[in-house]
Amino acid sequence: MSKKKVWVSRPLFPDVLAHLADHVEVAAETVEGTRSADQMRAKLADVDGAIVGLSERVDAGVLAGNTRLKVVANLGVGFNNFDLPAMTAAGVLATNTPDVLNESVADYAWALMLAAARRVSAAERWLRAGHWTSTMRFDDWLGVDLHGKTLGILGMGRIGQAIARRACGFDMHVLYHNRSRLPDPVERECRAQWVEKHELLRRVDHLVLVLPFTAANRHAIGAPELALMKPSAVLVNVARGGIVDDAALARALRDKTLAAAALDVFEGEPAVHPDLLALDNAVLSPHIASASEDTRRAMARLAADNVLAALGLGKLAGQPPTPLNPEVMSRWSGAASVDNKA
Ligand code: DGY
Repeated sequence: MSKKKVWVSRPLFPDVLAHLADHVEVAAETVEGTRSADQMRAKLADVDGAIVGLSERVDAGVLAGNTRLKVVANLGVGFNNFDLPAMTAAGVLATNTPDVLNESVADYAWALMLAAARRVSAAERWLRAGHWTSTMRFDDWLGVDLHGKTLGILGMGRIGQAIARRACGFDMHVLYHNRSRLPDPVERECRAQWVEKHELLRRVDHLVLVLPFTAANRHAIGAPELALMKPSAVLVNVARGGIVDDAALARALRDKTLAAAALDVFEGEPAVHPDLLALDNAVLSPHIASASEDTRRAMARLAADNVLAALGLGKLAGQPPTPLNPEVMSRWSGAASVDNKA
């Protein structure tokens, strides 16, 4: 029987590609790039599985007429690039990479919070530009403390909880808002108190966004929400672009109705709102919250395990570890089944 074929949409760790190649024929891209819907349709047309990145959209149009594709693994926990109902309707299993990135993203949220609050990026730019030529004013470069302040977390999933646990070391008071309250033991472990969203916005000194991007969450932080925040507050977004209204945020930062912000994600990324680029009180990074060596490797391996398992191969054959729509598997005919879609 000929080997199944898997498309990998971006350069990936060679050992992970080699692991895939032990079981399947691998068609791996060697350069990064974004693809149009037509290109995606063509790439997915003659493969059994695919590993894609967050900028690659998989929807009904891309899947139209595809009777071979069985699984698409996302290199990320957020999967707003997937039209999950369309994938389910097409009998395509979708998978993501939860949990393996929680701690690294939480670390990075803290890195951004510290950098924005204590003006690390702006100070370094100033120093590198050669401006440090004499003694500095004692009251220059003043930032916002973290220790003893109130941290707010909007979206208290596993990453939010990992961020909250770290707040103990900074002696911070933690408030959070989530659609549903966490069970008491988890709240106690995180030393976090649930409050309404508006109360959260009003009370916090530092606000970290970790909520998933959905239609309902678009511009969850816009001009009205920013207006509720303290002028001394710091905003951090490690979730998704589009959750914040970047134009409104740039106005608030420019007018100093918000002290600082640190953003790892942007509306329409890789484009970044030009007003943000011009602001010294905005720390900006190119969507790298999960990018530690260990974590990106773990994400790649998990994506590969999902694809192989969905195709009935490898040590997890038939049991993809992190499926998003596992119900489609029951519609595949027989499990070694995984050979032909029903
Ligand atoms: C994710 O996994 O959704 C992150 O945004 C990737 O860095």
